Parts: sequence; C-alpha cells; structure tokens
Amino acid sequence: VSDYLAIQSHTGKYAVEFINEAAPEIHDYDQGTTHFIVDNKIIELYENLFKGKIGSYSILALNAIEGNKSLEKIPEYIDFLLRNNIRRDHRLVAVGGGIIQDITCFISATLMRGINWEYYPTTLLAQADSCIGSKSSINCGKVKNIIGTFTPPQKVVLYVKFLKTLEAGDLKSGIGEIIKVHIINGQDSFKQLSKDYFRLFSDHCLLLKYIRKSLEIKKRYIEMDEFDRGERRIFNYGHTFGHAIESSTDFMIPHGIAVTIGMDMANFIAMSLGRISRSDYLRIKALLAENYSEYAKYPIPVDRFITALARDKKNKGGNINSVLLNDRCEAELHSLNNNRELEDKCISYFNNERHI
Ligand SMILES: NC(=O)c1ccc[n+]([C@@H]2O[C@H](COP(=O)([O-])OP(=O)(O)OC[C@H]3O[C@@H](n4cnc5c(N)ncnc54)[C@H](O)[C@@H]3O)[C@@H](O)[C@H]2O)c1
Ligand SMILES: [Zn+2]
Repeated sequence: VSDYLAIQSHTGKYAVEFINEAAPEIHDYDQGTTHFIVDNKIIELYENLFKGKIGSYSILALNAIEGNKSLEKIPEYIDFLLRNNIRRDHRLVAVGGGIIQDITCFISATLMRGINWEYYPTTLLAQADSCIGSKSSINCGKVKNIIGTFTPPQKVVLYVKFLKTLEAGDLKSGIGEIIKVHIINGQDSFKQLSKDYFRLFSDHCLLLKYIRKSLEIKKRYIEMDEFDRGERRIFNYGHTFGHAIESSTDFMIPHGIAVTIGMDMANFIAMSLGRISRSDYLRIKALLAENYSEYAKYPIPVDRFITALARDKKNKGGNINSVLLNDRCEAELHSLNNNRELEDKCISYFNNERHI
C-alpha cells in the first residue's frame, strides 16, 4: 500500500490505508477465520466485492438503520457468529457506514472479551471522521449511543470510490463533520474549505484530500486524548446542540447535518454572548447554511429540543458542556448555564436564524 496514515492507540498502532484505483480485495480473506458484518446496501450495489464467493463466507448482512444498532439486537448477532463457529483468534471485518462500524466495534470489544476487527468505511462520515478514534456507540431502549467502548481496529481500508453511490444527504452529512474539523483547525483551513466546497460534490480527488486532511487533524487529538477526557472534547463542537436536534426530531435529520445546524446554533449563542462578531457569525453561516439547506425548514419541536439538551450525557449539574468560538474564531470548551436565557436564545435561533 503506497499511502497510509498511522494511528497510535492504547492497544498499539494501526494504519488507515488509502486505496484509490482497484476495489478492495476483501474476497482474499481466509474463509475459516473471517466473519464479515456488511451493510445490505453495499452487497446490493457492489456485487463484485466478494467475487462470487459470497456463499462461502460467514457474512452477517444488516440494514443500516438505528434500530439495528441497539443492545437488544446484539444477542441475534452473537448467535449468528457462534453458529458460524467464531473463535477469539478469528477476525471481524466491517464493511459499511457508522452503523455497521458501531455494531462490529462493540461486538469486537465484548464477544469472548475481545476479537480483532478491521474496517472498510463506505460513507463519507465514516471515512472522514468515525473510522479513527476507537469509539463504539450502541443504542439502548430509546436512548441513542448510551453504551460503548474504546476499541481500536487492527486496520482501516479507505476506498474513496465507495462514495460514488452515496446519496446527496449522506454526502452532506459527512461534509458537516469535515467542516467541523476544519473550523477546529483554524480559520485559514475553514476559508480554504469554503472556497472548495462546491467542487467536493464532483471532484473525488479533492474530496479525498479533504478526507485525509480531516483524519490528520483528528489524529492529533485522539493520540493526545483517546479516552475523550481532555483535548479531544473540542470535537464536540456542534454536537451538544446537534444531538438535541437529532433526538427531538426522532433522528430524521442525518447526524452530520444536525451537527452543521448545531455549529450554527453554537455560533449564534457565541455571538449573543459577545464572543464573536455578527460579521463572523454570518460569514461562517454562509457555508453552514448551504450545507444544511435541505433541512433549513425542517420542523424542530423546541420543547423537546430543550428537554433533550438538558439530558445530554456530557453535561454536569445545571451546566451544559459546550464548545463555542472565541473572539479569534477558535473553538474552545465552554460551560453554558442552562437557564431561561439560554432557552430564549435557542427559541430565537429556531424562529429567526435558520432561513438567512
Ligand atoms: N463510533 C463513532 O465514532 C461514531 C461517530 C459518528 C457517528 N457514529 C454513528 O454512525 C451512524 C451514522 O453513520 P453513517 O452516516 O456513516 O452511515 P450509516 O451507516 O447510517 O449509513 C447511512 C446510509 O448510507 C447507506 N450507505 C452506506 N454506504 C453506502 C454507499 N457506499 N453507497 C450508498 N449508500 C451507502 C446506508 O445503507 C444507509 O442508508 C450513527 O449511528 C452514528 O451514531 C459513530
Ligand atoms: Zn459527529
């Protein structure tokens, strides 16, 4: 492999291998010791991936829906793997987006106290963001991502051409996370991305450059703070509000789009606290609003949003741990007082700010 990025984790180093031309050779894995967990849509769209050997592998094929990423479903998957004679020295291979990743990573952490796993991310969100960072997140009951582990893979293989079949909404969802890391990296990165934004939809070479850059930025933080107790928390930019938007709309808005709206909300609050100027708020909004344009009018029930915001698992006491921009437009951790004033600002945002 000519091009790769090495990631240091608490269990050792693993590589993200970039392959650009030929499709990944997943039909080459040993049949006796490999168990695939694959998105059904990938099996349908990329018939050739297994080179006709599909019947001879242990393949758990799943629909990528949130309901399948729940604790209640795990026994079914374990049962399948046991019937296929999985052992602790075997290997799990995930092929799909963040849902397939989370399921595989969680099973890898827990089944027989640990089975190695490898990952072929097929969505932009997974390629540019979630494929590194070790996290697994599983839903329990109605609560999303409430159970999880830190379990790095043995390797990640990134084939950018998977993205050709992605729907526009899923592409924009991934771009939302790319925007996030570029704002975290500083305003020069953000300005360059703003210039290149529209070309990302047609130029796969450019998109790959941004995927790689996003992973390089994230690498610095996860290597400093893999367990998300310190510096890495800056990556929650847009997520405090984004998670509340997702849960108050029953997850009808794709994650990265909710994060895009969440960043715009955080910036609105930063402006109302006098941290950033109105002109900076509007300048950054120009790109964010373009990225969430299909959801600018999507109804978000404010009362449900406020309840969800207060319940965010990352909050302590009456405060909401958030990330806001400062006067140099740098992302910083900031504890927001969860009071009436904050509620009013959220209401004012939903009523007046999404359509600009
Ligand atoms: N563990 C983490 O660090 C982490 C980080 C962010 C998000 N997540 C989780 O990831 C999930 C969202 O993941 P996601 O947006 O990557 O994808 P997803 O797995 O939800 O898939 C989104 C859609 O794209 C389809 N799809 C996947 N690959 C495709 C392809 N190449 N062509 C066409 N369609 C394709 C899927 O079938 C699905 O319909 C959420 O559950 C979120 O909580 C986890
Ligand atoms: Zn995210």
